Amino acid sequence: MSGNFSFSFSGDDIEDKGELNPAAPNVSASVQPRPTASAFPVASKPLLPAASHDLHHMLSQLPSKVAYSILDIDLDGNGSIQLPRRELWDVRVQLMAEDEGGDTEPGLGNHDVKTGVYEGGFKSWESSVDLVKVLSPSKDFLADESVFPTLIELGCGTALPSLALFQWSLSLQAPQRNSALSIVLADYNPTVLQLVTLPNFILCWALHQRGELPLLENAFSLEGELDLTPDVIGAFEEFLSARNISISFFSGGWSTEFINLVSSKETLKTRNDAKRRTIIIGAETIYSPFALSSFTQTVFSFLKQEKDQGNAAEALVGAKKLYFGVGGSLDDFVAKARELGADVEELREETEGVRRGVVRCSLP
Ligand SMILES: C[S@@+](CC[C@H](N)C(=O)[O-])C[C@H]1O[C@@H](n2cnc3c(N)ncnc32)[C@H](O)[C@@H]1O
Repeated sequence: MSGNFSFSFSGDDIEDKGELNPAAPNVSASVQPRPTASAFPVASKPLLPAASHDLHHMLSQLPSKVAYSILDIDLDGNGSIQLPRRELWDVRVQLMAEDEGGDTEPGLGNHDVKTGVYEGGFKSWESSVDLVKVLSPSKDFLADESVFPTLIELGCGTALPSLALFQWSLSLQAPQRNSALSIVLADYNPTVLQLVTLPNFILCWALHQRGELPLLENAFSLEGELDLTPDVIGAFEEFLSARNISISFFSGGWSTEFINLVSSKETLKTRNDAKRRTIIIGAETIYSPFALSSFTQTVFSFLKQEKDQGNAAEALVGAKKLYFGVGGSLDDFVAKARELGADVEELREETEGVRRGVVRCSLP
């Protein structure tokens, strides 16, 4: 039996106005985990292997247009940020048009997680919004020319925290800066990266740059839609290259192979005169004992590697205080991180609704 279970009762996906589903009942009272929910990896089913995905090839696989909506996130009274997300119905339409079954693609049906098959990346989970709020006050590091900012978002899904940092960097960095940003995006499922994560980055860039490029103004001719013409895709690639922004995509289970692949020279770029400043991000990635353990090992491998190379590195982890019935909790992560010698600082706590928090970890 596979471990299908649904978190949909808890309003884990964020409504368009940035509010949690107002109809969501109290989470802990309504969880209905199946007995095998945390049995990942599923017996006899190997984990998806680590794989890297070429951006140019991914761009060539996009549909001719994407529909989106805007998530407006209030930054605790210090302004707000508007982040685009591709509509899930649009993903289904694409898959149906390609005859790949929009209803049968794992993650586009009724369950939020299908253990070992689909791990929740199509939807935005509430800790990813908490992370955007935590990142906002420190975003000025993106404009610091003495460091090479590097983001590694593990279990990114719709990638709200990385999207926010990308958008801030477009606003904060001088266009002529020759070393801008390296973004590593990883999700268990390659389909999530192709169908949601990449389109969200293109949308974010296009909305930011539409005033600068007439071709983008034309591509937004219909409300809530962006035409992905070859010219638009070409302009996106040119922009990344001119600004020295690299975006790399990785899928598969967290493992030694995964870590080695991400750490390869081509991904974690550096510049001779600047050290990397690396931020590892994980939102709602520790919702089972298995995920907790493999996520923690992965984060610590990256932290140690960065430290050994003399780079500043920290991990920002947002999660629920307890994934009721399925195991995994932010407290378990904090305990494990301290056991492994990390300094752990609690940055944020949400006590309303589903209890959750954000912590920062670094190696002394
Ligand atoms: C609940 S989703 C959270 C998505 C996103 N961070 C958010 O908060 O909206 C959990 C994410 O962790 C990733 N994940 C879970 N277990 C994994 C594993 N063993 N190896 C790699 N990725 C995993 C999934 O791909 C998924 O994107």
